[in-house]
Amino acid sequence: MTTDPSQIPVEELTEESAALELERLAREILRHDALYHGGDAPEISDAAYDALRRRNLAIEQAFPGLVREDSPSRRVGFVALDKFEKVTHAQPMLSLANAFSDEDVADFWDSVSRFLKLDGRPALTAEPKIDGLSLSLRYEDGRLVSAATRGDGVVGENVTANAKTIADIPSILAGEDIPDIVEVRGEVYMTKQAFQALNAKLEAEGKPLYVNPRNTAAGSLRQLDSAITAQRPLRFFAYAWGEMSAVPRGSQMEMVSLLAEWGFRTNPLMQRFDALEALLEHYHAIEEGRADLAYDIDGVVYKVDDLALQARLGMRSNSPRWAIAHKFPAEKAWTELKEIEIQIGRTGALTPVARLEPVTVGGVVVTNATLHNEDYIRGIGNDGLPIRGGKDLRAGDTVMIQRAGDVIPQILDTDLEKRTKDSTPFEFPTICPACGSHAVRETNPQTGRQDSVRRCTGGLICPAQAVERLKHFVGRNAFDIEGLGDKQVEFFFHDADLPVKTPVDIFLLREKDGASLKKLKDKEGWGETSAKKLFDAIDVRRDIALYRFIFGLGIRHVGEQTAKDLARAYGDIGAFSAAMRKLAAGDEQAREELIAIDGIGGTVAFALMEFFAEPRNVDVYDALLREVRPQPAEQAASDSPVAGKTVVFTGSLEKMTRDEAKAMAERLGAKVSGSVSSKTDLVVAGPGAGSKLKKASELGIETIDEDGWLELVGQA
Ligand code: IVH
Repeated sequence: MTTDPSQIPVEELTEESAALELERLAREILRHDALYHGGDAPEISDAAYDALRRRNLAIEQAFPGLVREDSPSRRVGFVALDKFEKVTHAQPMLSLANAFSDEDVADFWDSVSRFLKLDGRPALTAEPKIDGLSLSLRYEDGRLVSAATRGDGVVGENVTANAKTIADIPSILAGEDIPDIVEVRGEVYMTKQAFQALNAKLEAEGKPLYVNPRNTAAGSLRQLDSAITAQRPLRFFAYAWGEMSAVPRGSQMEMVSLLAEWGFRTNPLMQRFDALEALLEHYHAIEEGRADLAYDIDGVVYKVDDLALQARLGMRSNSPRWAIAHKFPAEKAWTELKEIEIQIGRTGALTPVARLEPVTVGGVVVTNATLHNEDYIRGIGNDGLPIRGGKDLRAGDTVMIQRAGDVIPQILDTDLEKRTKDSTPFEFPTICPACGSHAVRETNPQTGRQDSVRRCTGGLICPAQAVERLKHFVGRNAFDIEGLGDKQVEFFFHDADLPVKTPVDIFLLREKDGASLKKLKDKEGWGETSAKKLFDAIDVRRDIALYRFIFGLGIRHVGEQTAKDLARAYGDIGAFSAAMRKLAAGDEQAREELIAIDGIGGTVAFALMEFFAEPRNVDVYDALLREVRPQPAEQAASDSPVAGKTVVFTGSLEKMTRDEAKAMAERLGAKVSGSVSSKTDLVVAGPGAGSKLKKASELGIETIDEDGWLELVGQA
């Protein structure tokens, strides 16, 4: 008789063995999710993975009382392995031409009149342009049958199950005049408040945060597990339609009211205008009220109201001639620069940050802006030329902030008239504020120019660098320890009972098990379950891809790509360690071998040598290797059609994330680059590809789309 619970058929499990088995499965599935999620090669086939999940579910059904809090059937956060089905839109989902000024709008309106040979201007509707993602909902006999994302406008993804979780989307249409076939189009979005609440929750759980409400809405709608979508408060505004077996009304305004009668939410700010002045007034009113809206908008959309005229106007290649989006300019605002603070990075860089009197810019409260380096504060750009007319920045200044899209806010200008007489230029520290070591600007030996960055020379003794190194170590592209985010790292670093000062300490946390648990569970924000969960998440990462291990060390100039190059070249941790020891001892052959690796140059070699020549680094390194097991690097396939080729991905991808695409290409032996040059062999371009695609065609580089790529690598 077998005693290994993993071998016992579900029907024969006792309560006790079922509990054990559920625990094993939770851990095992989490590990495979992490491998997959981290872009690593999965260790087991999809079928074997599904079998694990099915077994977990079967046991849970047999023993409902044993369902664990961390059960894979409950867990949120990992994308499943399957992909969305493709849907070809019955009518393409168009995009909109843009207007950036009042004149552009006047030109648009005139061109409409000219096209139609009208004397006056036909009425236009004006409504906010919602910053979300568009969705097409198909109703047959009044019932929702499918929901699809825009995709490339022609083919989208079937997200029906997810759309059904959105309260603003009726499953059955109500009211009158409902044609047999109705395709309603509109925008899925998340309110600013819901976005902030979700991020606060993710932060508390130590998970990576979303950038803005739009990305969050997109990420939430494109979850393969609709249970996750259901937990995200998504909203929907209806504003257009696709295929209709009959169009029951004659104008845009009337059609949108009909959509509202059928049960959709429509935007209350939509209005109809006959004159330019009033139209622009509405635009500016919406722009001014933007910050007070519950959701993000990025412009105002104008549409010809009369549907018969819309039909006559028709469309250009991918946008209608009867509509235009009047975009808002990048948001600017004046506020007080209260203080200039210095942050110290992992490699000792002193980075100045502007602490601002909070100000709303583009609907987001801005409290910080980047100041880059000391030259920037003085009014000198990277090229040595003046910026802001050479004006320096000082605490107490009134400064102009700009926020454009997802970019970190910038300071554009400072008002010298408002500067007080007693203000003094900012004195950039030459001593590290965290450890008191000298902070210096190195001279680049190649150019002879002074580095723009001032760096703390404290290295291992600098506590600020140590914390940043830890954050890097547990970060997404390194050890990716779930539940151990920046906040938790700060907590443990400064905690007197459970101090975590080096990466090794992380793996020793559990060892003090009983004691640690006891200490941790009494602390604010921690309970027994969360503490145990954390220890488990740490254990899951004891088996780690070699490149993640190398990257996690946080050696200067060793980024993710360099870590991958090193891992691939040395193959396993033994070979890597031996080579590094020789390098540190001044072995010329080891150095030559190192710089012979494609992608590794003198700068990286020197940084590695410096790191491994420091005994304290080597102590931590050796101790760490007693705790974790770096896994041999996968040898890239050399027989794949893209082996050895340099590939660039540009535009948006529909079937995989950028990270997935990159991991796939690398597994197949290709090198992925971010920019197109004469060295590029292949460009994979998705919708929205711009300058890179243009450059590729100028250079005559082969260009294919995402499907072409999947076909090429045999994954179609
Ligand atoms: S009308 C045929 N109205 O903007 C025109 N689009 O740049 C169909 N959008 O893909 C679009 N708010 O996702 C329209 N009130 C609005 C909109 C809106 C946001 C988005 C939509 C579209 C994109 C075009």
